[in-house]
Amino acid sequence: MGSGSGKPRVLVPGARGMLGRAMAALLEERGFPVTAVDLPEFDITRPSDIRLWMAQDRPLAIINCAAMTAVDAAETEQELALAVNREGPAHLARAAASAGIPLLHVSTDYVFNGTKPGPWVEDDPVDPINFYGSSKLEGERPVLDHEYGTVVRTSWLFGPGGPNFVRTIATKLKGGETVEVVDDQRGCPTSTRALAQALLTLLESGKPGLYHFCQPPAVTWCEFARAIADSLGVPAQRVRPTTSDRWPRPARRPANSVMATAKYERMAGTPVPSWEFELMNYLAGDL
Ligand SMILES: NC(=O)c1ccc[n+]([C@@H]2O[C@H](COP(=O)([O-])OP(=O)(O)OC[C@H]3O[C@@H](n4cnc5c(N)ncnc54)[C@H](OP(=O)(O)O)[C@@H]3O)[C@@H](O)[C@H]2O)c1
Repeated sequence: MGSGSGKPRVLVPGARGMLGRAMAALLEERGFPVTAVDLPEFDITRPSDIRLWMAQDRPLAIINCAAMTAVDAAETEQELALAVNREGPAHLARAAASAGIPLLHVSTDYVFNGTKPGPWVEDDPVDPINFYGSSKLEGERPVLDHEYGTVVRTSWLFGPGGPNFVRTIATKLKGGETVEVVDDQRGCPTSTRALAQALLTLLESGKPGLYHFCQPPAVTWCEFARAIADSLGVPAQRVRPTTSDRWPRPARRPANSVMATAKYERMAGTPVPSWEFELMNYLAGDL
């Protein structure tokens, strides 16, 4: 069933996740018929689920928002990470190729090792330093091998409906706590709403390939936390800088994961807007 609206039906796996809900909502707002699916009814590791929904709903594009995103847990739950982040996109790519339809898939800044002093571009060498990053990297190839496959690497997502850094810090600050935040990892926060818009722009452009999409300005986590404090009217002294070695975690994080978005901007014909406005909007609503 294409659609009565004249717009193509889009299949959105992972539609109840943080990005997935923003993606499904944006598509609906723009008049696209959406097949919004998630676990347990649609498991991207099960080709039979993909076949069933493709046959039933006949989508004309897939935007995959499903992933195993627990970065620290992926160090020990490696089989699950590989099944969801490597095999899942490969199954979706096969299904998209056999139906002759576009597949857009989301990857991560964690494919890089963090040692480059400047922003990472799409053809910089990849070298993930944690298992999540390597499982996501392995999911990129099958999508890019598909003639109509697009991979968008993004970073530091925030938006309604998911645990994320903004929600964690805002909840603590509102509760009167002082927070210690690492000041030696630099990256680009990105709102799920802005990323969903970029994915739709890419879908409509008909220009598949590998893109970076994240929002300026680049900051450290501590600087980002200060911006959250500022938006909440909380004094900046309630956010204290610390270093990664004082916060040992199972998975290592890259020191610099800032990505260049010039390729996306050339395709879209417009600069990527800053995350600051999105942050204010997000903090003003339900976290
Ligand atoms: N969050 C970030 O900061 C960040 C940064 C860079 C890149 N990304 C990438 O951006 C994308 C969206 O991330 P997100 O933060 O929106 O993730 P999320 O909130 O964790 O959402 C992922 C969704 O996928 C579902 N899912 C898990 N395994 C599945 C499976 N086998 N089949 C179908 N659905 C499955 C999850 O269900 P359950 O909750 O039930 O597991 C969840 O609803 C992912 O590709 C992620 O790797 C995220």
